[in-house]
Amino acid sequence: MKLSVLEGLRARAPEWTDTGTLQRELEASPAEVLGAVAALRADGYEIEERPDGLRFAGVGERLIPYEITRALSVDVIGRRVVVLEQTNSTNDVAWAEALTGAPEGTVVFAEEQTAGRGRMGRRWHSPSRRNLLLSVILRPALEAGQANYLTVTSSVAVAQALRENLPLLARIRWPNDITIKERKVSGILVEGRTLATGAAFVLGVGMNVNMRPEDYPPELRGIATSLMIETGAPVPRIEAARWLLASLDRWYRDLRFGDYGRIARCWRRLSSTLGERVVLVENGREFRGRVLDLSMEDGLIVRLDEGVTRLFHPSTVTLRQLPHRAGLKPEDQSLK
Ligand code: BTN
Repeated sequence: MKLSVLEGLRARAPEWTDTGTLQRELEASPAEVLGAVAALRADGYEIEERPDGLRFAGVGERLIPYEITRALSVDVIGRRVVVLEQTNSTNDVAWAEALTGAPEGTVVFAEEQTAGRGRMGRRWHSPSRRNLLLSVILRPALEAGQANYLTVTSSVAVAQALRENLPLLARIRWPNDITIKERKVSGILVEGRTLATGAAFVLGVGMNVNMRPEDYPPELRGIATSLMIETGAPVPRIEAARWLLASLDRWYRDLRFGDYGRIARCWRRLSSTLGERVVLVENGREFRGRVLDLSMEDGLIVRLDEGVTRLFHPSTVTLRQLPHRAGLKPEDQSLK
């Protein structure tokens, strides 16, 4: 009844819907229609009311599972969507769901996390209802130790989604940051485990959508950004969730079909790290050099200043990228 009332009102919006007509159409009593309207408002829908009618006025600020999935055509990622008002970490919720047999492609969103986590045990902060915080259950034909394939694939998917839908010249800073003009807009955290049924993964994505500069702690202001800061206008989060899931699903299809070549080509093209001078810290030791290549399997291939070429795995190093000579890469100049 709830969805029939919603779609009945939406079909006529911005016109008013006569309440009697709606009741007849749906063969519903006045109490049933009013009950559905109350439930829709509780979900976050904006529905206006006057003595003889009702009007659909929008979806408001909150993430609503039905709104994310209703116009979404996907194979796997987003087949099932859950939204929590608050949780510790969506990655933890997704793991709990994965362990009790939730289907692959289940997506858990949260409006707020009390213990959101990033790579290397860092915290991921996000004020309530401002951003996108989500985790996806995945069961590809990979081993638990091959989580990097998913980090690469999803970083391409996130960057491409921003380029195609806003459009913003998003790039990938190895290993898991999505940046715009060298400021971080999104981070990816993939965790893999070997279960009795095979390897399972949880892909966590945090995307700064409607953060204002003053929402960041001072130490992050110069290095983080948001879609709103970059586009100059608030970005509807439901739409962003939809195009993000569509892009993740599309690139995950390539991974499932073993089309690593296409993923790797796009990854290199979008990389802001390839060819750059970097400082890498591994077990407290600092290494300086230039990035020669990126490997999905092994990590970063670096020509160190002392002349040797070495491999750095994302699980053991942190990277500091030295500023590009002109401050911005050629492709980013158009964003100035
Ligand atoms: C990073 O940049 O280090 C990765 C950040 C990943 C944050 C997201 S927010 C949703 C999901 N739940 C978490 O606890 N972490 C990821």
